[in-house]
Amino acid sequence: MKNGPIFFLSLLAALTFSWVGLALASHRQLDSLVPYYDPAEAKAFPEPMPGIAARGQLVYQDLGCASCHTQQVRRADMGNDIDRKWGTRQSWARDYIYQNRVQLGLVRVGPDLANVGARLKSATEVYQLLYKGTATMPAFAFLFSDSPLGAQTGAIAVGQSEGHQVVPTRRAMELAAYLLSLNSPHAYGPEAAHNAVKPAEAPKSAEEPKK
Ligand code: HEC
Repeated sequence: MKNGPIFFLSLLAALTFSWVGLALASHRQLDSLVPYYDPAEAKAFPEPMPGIAARGQLVYQDLGCASCHTQQVRRADMGNDIDRKWGTRQSWARDYIYQNRVQLGLVRVGPDLANVGARLKSATEVYQLLYKGTATMPAFAFLFSDSPLGAQTGAIAVGQSEGHQVVPTRRAMELAAYLLSLNSPHAYGPEAAHNAVKPAEAPKSAEEPKK
């Protein structure tokens, strides 16, 4: 090849520029996000996940729940997520700063779970759902074990047969704690100011047919 070195250097430059622009710049931008301190509530948001919930996130990842569920609420002018009560505001990058393995998901076979903790009433509700499933969601009965009645105290039984009860395993408990922890209603100052809907951009009248 006549201009081998020039070709090689141009290729290297093209790859370096795109890597710096796409990967490094976005990594630096997202990596610099810190919790937002709200002086009115004298607290920083988002709040860190309890340890049991962080372990539950690994169970969620392990079982592939993200193949049917997303964890990202879209803006009011980009979909009906807020009308469906999946959140009171869109998701922002700051919501995920404490998560090592963000489970954004791509496909929504089931509802978005970004704020499911606000909709679920108790761990028992999660156990019932996971143990029995629904017409559209598969059951994860292997997260439960059979134990003689009275052998386990503190565990919430999801089913009972003669002398036996079906109790959640440690993984089911961790998963339930994770789902119950998913809730980020706080509107951080900088994002809220940046995303404030200007009157001209406000969604049109409520009569508009839903997409
Ligand atoms: C095959 C797709 C599929 C998989 C895999 C799946 N789900 Fe679901 N999930 C659904 C569907 C569909 C619904 C809605 C069920 C209904 O309303 O009958 C749902 C509902 C839910 C709900 C209730 C949501 C709400 O808004 O109240 C929770 C919580 C949930 N799933 C958690 C999980 C977890 C945790 C896993 C992994 C262990 C999982 N799902 C795996 C399809 C799935």
